[in-house]
Amino acid sequence: MDWRVRFVDYPEQWRRQRAALLPVIEKTIADGDLMLRQQLRDFETDLARFNGSARAVGVSNCTDGLRLLAHHLDVGPGDEVVTVAHTFIATVSPFVLRGATPVFVDIGDDHLMETGALAEVVNERTRVIIPVHLNGRTVDMAEVVKVAEHVGAAVIEDAAQALGATLDGQTAGTFGLASTYSFYPAKMLGALGDAGAVLTDDQELADRLLSLRDHGRVGKSDIDGWGYNCRLDNLQAAILGWRLRQLPAWINRRREVARRYDERLRGIDGLEIPVGPDADDRRQDVFQNYPVTTDRRDALAEHLRADGIEILISWPVPLHHQRGLGLDHWRLPRTERLCERVLSLPMHAELEDVHVDEVAASVRRFFGAK
Ligand SMILES: Cc1ncc(COP(=O)(O)O)c(C=O)c1O
Repeated sequence: MDWRVRFVDYPEQWRRQRAALLPVIEKTIADGDLMLRQQLRDFETDLARFNGSARAVGVSNCTDGLRLLAHHLDVGPGDEVVTVAHTFIATVSPFVLRGATPVFVDIGDDHLMETGALAEVVNERTRVIIPVHLNGRTVDMAEVVKVAEHVGAAVIEDAAQALGATLDGQTAGTFGLASTYSFYPAKMLGALGDAGAVLTDDQELADRLLSLRDHGRVGKSDIDGWGYNCRLDNLQAAILGWRLRQLPAWINRRREVARRYDERLRGIDGLEIPVGPDADDRRQDVFQNYPVTTDRRDALAEHLRADGIEILISWPVPLHHQRGLGLDHWRLPRTERLCERVLSLPMHAELEDVHVDEVAASVRRFFGAK
């Protein structure tokens, strides 16, 4: 389909970045810098500094970052892992695959973990609490940290969608033991393939992750334990290093787009929109996504697509309703309602004002708003 407005515009992204990135790619390949080279170390240093974390460890993707953390914590049968069911399966699968039991809490109006409900579900079996900073917005972390400390659980932040977001001036991903990031191409900071990172202030943990991601190797030939192959490719690291320097400008643009949507979509009867970029004194959201909700979601999706606007319904089925996972004993009314009503409008740094206006006009027409 030839979209008038794409959900994520990879061709336009490449058109804008080609001149800068081709020399980066050329040099990295020509120098033979393919695995675990300086570009990766530089990217890790820059990423840690960007986020205000002590250390960053590049890994093959966010899911593998979570897998390494689950291994490090030795999560296993009898352990419980608390998170939300309105997230990507990867938030929990690395823990469940080691034998842990997922425990879900429902979500609040902003689609994020209802942290007030945490205290009711934790117990002595709770090993890990995973807040998910979905859509580029930071979960209210004070309660998460308090409850985790109370039961002696580790906090791992799934920050796959929230690089650069802040809460009370503190960056998402710096509240818990560690945080994991996805550089899947559609993310705030995307690679040209799969990539991810784990950030932490714990030096020992970071060193352990460096060996865990590389077969347990320390140095050239020493092995300090069983490990995996979860390295971040050096070429992707070189690309991400260049892109990381553009990220502040891209976040600004995403926030401008959100502001423009907000001005044009606020007050439409039957449509709920995200908290605006200037509406929350405590948070700086980075708008990985711009999710709107309505009782007429499927009809709105059809209308927008017919107008040539590409939208995304990320997770129409919450995790606990996925067939084959054996989790359907959970009752999470707010999560279930959201999954029936949510869709995400186009949101990316290459989006022009005319595109935003076109999308907003189409939404307004659907609701019969002037
Ligand atoms: C919230 C969340 N967690 C985890 C992941 C997994 O990331 P990756 O594809 O890099 O493994 C994603 C990716 O979409 C995500 O959105």
